[in-house]
Amino acid sequence: MSFDSLAPHYRWMEWLLAGRKLQHCRTAFLRGLPQARHALLLGDGNGRFLEEFLAAHPRARVTCVDASAAMIRRARARLRARGVDLAAVEFIHADALAWTPSPGTYDLAVTHFFFDCFRRDQIERLLEILGPALTSDAQWLLADFRVPASGFARWRARWIVRSMYLFFRQVTDLPASSLIPAEEFLVPRGYALRERRLSEWGLLHTDWWTRGVA
Ligand SMILES: C[S@@+](CC[C@H](N)C(=O)[O-])C[C@H]1O[C@@H](n2cnc3c(N)ncnc32)[C@H](O)[C@@H]1O
Repeated sequence: MSFDSLAPHYRWMEWLLAGRKLQHCRTAFLRGLPQARHALLLGDGNGRFLEEFLAAHPRARVTCVDASAAMIRRARARLRARGVDLAAVEFIHADALAWTPSPGTYDLAVTHFFFDCFRRDQIERLLEILGPALTSDAQWLLADFRVPASGFARWRARWIVRSMYLFFRQVTDLPASSLIPAEEFLVPRGYALRERRLSEWGLLHTDWWTRGVA
């Protein structure tokens, strides 16, 4: 899988199809979070979340892991163009499934529109990798698509999600073909949902999870 070919088009496509809706999801909890010491951003892409994160958490260190070199280049360029100091940011070009983080390092994980790229077995593997790397009181921000339980909202979401998978599987060779709800993999591993906000008829969710007690 590679997002390299999509990287130059990601921003305008998002703007055309969703306006600022996804960015609202990404940043919904940024200012309510306790100040992060060391944040881990998995698959942050072109750096739009990173930019807002650094403004809201100016003392945090940040590690960004992304499998797409083109996405990382765009993130760097975006932040440099805006005069953002990148001294506290480490970009790692790696497959998160094959990456070994240091234990007990991160008090914040951010996985926006990231888990929808993976099959269930790969998500389980990612959680195995991340578990030891997060502190015992870590916070976790996660925005993604979802399919509501019933009604027109469900029908609409299924149509949109199916179209997206058709497109992304064609262009990026995405291994996933369906969404796995976050609660199915985070709750059994001891994460608690502190807050969830839904938008777009329930098609989008943005979550604030905590490790341990919410
Ligand atoms: C759907 S995009 C989401 C980008 C961004 N987080 C957002 O909110 O729009 C998925 C991102 O995850 C990265 N990615 C996909 N698979 C990955 C993997 N196995 N390891 C690391 N990054 C990966 C892609 O390169 C891309 O930047």
